Amino acid sequence: MKVTIFGSGYVGLVSGACLADVGNEVVCVDIDRNKIELLNRGEVPIYEPGLDQLVRNNQKSGRLTFTSDVAMGVEHGLFQFIAVGTPPDEDGSADLQYVLAVAASIGEHMTGYKVIVDKSTVPVGTADKVRARVGEVLAARGAAALEFDVVSNPEFLKEGDAIDDFMKPDRIIIGTDNPRTTELLRALYAPFNRNHERVIAMDIRSAELTKYAANAMLATKISFMNELANIAERVGADIEQVRIGIGSDPRIGYSFIYPGIGYGGSCFPKDVQALERSARSLGYQAEILHAVEQVNYRQKEVLFHKIERHFGGDLRGKVFALWGLAFKPNTDDMREAPSRVLMEALWRAGARVQAYDPEAKEETTRIYGERDDLLLCDSPEAALKGADALVVATEWKLFRSPNFDTIAEQLSSPVIFDGRNIYDPAYLKSRGFSYYGVGRGIIDAK
Ligand SMILES: NC(=O)c1ccc[n+]([C@@H]2O[C@H](COP(=O)([O-])OP(=O)(O)OC[C@H]3O[C@@H](n4cnc5c(N)ncnc54)[C@H](O)[C@@H]3O)[C@@H](O)[C@H]2O)c1
Repeated sequence: MKVTIFGSGYVGLVSGACLADVGNEVVCVDIDRNKIELLNRGEVPIYEPGLDQLVRNNQKSGRLTFTSDVAMGVEHGLFQFIAVGTPPDEDGSADLQYVLAVAASIGEHMTGYKVIVDKSTVPVGTADKVRARVGEVLAARGAAALEFDVVSNPEFLKEGDAIDDFMKPDRIIIGTDNPRTTELLRALYAPFNRNHERVIAMDIRSAELTKYAANAMLATKISFMNELANIAERVGADIEQVRIGIGSDPRIGYSFIYPGIGYGGSCFPKDVQALERSARSLGYQAEILHAVEQVNYRQKEVLFHKIERHFGGDLRGKVFALWGLAFKPNTDDMREAPSRVLMEALWRAGARVQAYDPEAKEETTRIYGERDDLLLCDSPEAALKGADALVVATEWKLFRSPNFDTIAEQLSSPVIFDGRNIYDPAYLKSRGFSYYGVGRGIIDAK
């Protein structure tokens, strides 16, 4: 089948490569010419495990092409996927300018029937806006008779596991008001739907809300555990024991109940915010969503306060080894990463940071440029050299079982601030370390 995908970011690129890999002819369109040039040279601008190879293989076969030529993109696909960003507007609601710009482009250039598939995460009612925008542009060029459908097909892939998630999805949500498009989309997704039925067809508005509901539920689990961690700390309990204790209840389960230093990334923060703002604009105060956001905001500062207290409130001239910059392991994505809040607070307090991340070095340089108070290192060990403490912000696998002798030797004093609770406090204490985790019965938080 012929597919066009607008937006070659984490979602568009993965979707395009996976759809090409099962035999479709895919054209990816992006307005970022640098990105398209890179991709046409066979370079993938983001880090996502397995994506380089998948893109290159499908490029070689001719099934996956990249262009900035919007007219060519619109001409190509029966399916016109919208996978552009929906960043927060000034008031936190979703900014739809990129989505609607694509809708206008489709209206401008289409010459026959198109299925417009909204894959970006968008507020309820966006499909109607896309339909209206396409219709307006068609009418303006005297082509109002051209037919098209708009479908909501939210994406649930996780960065770091994106290819697997796309190839073996838990569910394929198809929100339509026309059975013909449900069948077209069902056919497109058939290669990913062989093992068991994953298509869940519903009305468009419910599909749009399903995506926000999923992210809001996951963010709520994280903020809930962080809230409990802060309570555990004050009452002298260990949140890790509590986590295992409650996870054993099948109604609760073990997944996604890890305490830490807050959620980040390109989705949870903006989606919780957008859903809350969207409810508010309709006169409904979404109290839980508001609390989820507030708890997360506060949680990103928890480690800094522990550091500040440990060093008696004066961090001027101190040096911190920071392990992990990406918002989670297996990605280079730094959007809303807790490491950024921490680094910026350390800098404001007059400290310097020596950081190591397996994949996010380039992205960090892009965001912060060269600065005297940031040294980006090429190994975890190099980051430790002469530092006053080790701080873990992202739970990359290679940080899980480090050589603690090396850590103790390289640090000026043996102190670890573990923002992801990956180490055993009792073991570290027995090795002479001062250890601070999140919610681990150390009554040091106020
Ligand atoms: N990143 C994730 O893990 C994830 C998961 C599920 C859903 N989503 C949602 O998918 C959408 C895209 O997210 P992303 O992380 O891939 O974004 P991204 O920022 O990585 O990529 C968006 C791309 O769209 C391009 N673009 C903007 N306007 C364009 C236009 N008019 N025509 C063509 N290209 C255009 C940009 O240049 C950019 O390359 C968002 O709504 C997001 O919430 C993201």
